[in-house]
Amino acid sequence: MIRMAILASGSGSNAQKLMEHFSSHPGAEVALIACDRPGAGVVQRAWDMGVPCFLFSGAELREGTLQRELAGAGIDLVILAGFLRLLPVDLVRAWPDRMLNIHPSLLPKYGGKGMYGNHVHEAVLAAGEKESGITIHLVNERYDEGRVLFQAKCPVLPGDDAGALAGRIHALEHAYYPRIVEEFALGLGVG
Ligand code: GAR
Repeated sequence: MIRMAILASGSGSNAQKLMEHFSSHPGAEVALIACDRPGAGVVQRAWDMGVPCFLFSGAELREGTLQRELAGAGIDLVILAGFLRLLPVDLVRAWPDRMLNIHPSLLPKYGGKGMYGNHVHEAVLAAGEKESGITIHLVNERYDEGRVLFQAKCPVLPGDDAGALAGRIHALEHAYYPRIVEEFALGLGVG
């Protein structure tokens, strides 16, 4: 059984879809939610789904506490789902090609530092783009630059605001992230 941890900072709608998808899966399980914001929606979602939730601070992240927790829990695959901090290099190196992220744009466009959530959608709208989408990629030591595994597009429609575009993007994320994670996890051949 592949053991996965989800790192999330926010509402956790993607984490929810992943927990549901793998709740009775024969090959992979969400063994842990890890969150850096005590009041984040994802904490309640983990509780409701009966998945252990580990809370940590920025200082603990830098001091290696999260890395020790993930290693102690026997995590094979780390899934970022709306996690907004840059991870320490040591942590990224501890799961080489075993860490996935989802980004709400068609990378390499609208990625990098400060590009998260509605900031991305506002930048897409300000640039007058006719389409946007999602990117699922491997995580390396630089923001949003790991190998792309999957992209899907959606239109940007006249009159869209960031909220409308975010809704369309979230629908794509919810449809594809669990499937792509599953395909990747089952290809690992560990556990
Ligand atoms: C998602 O749209 C995800 O792509 C984005 O944060 C949102 C989290 O939503 N991630 C980034 O912007 C990372 N740079 P959720 O908490 O409802 O899953």
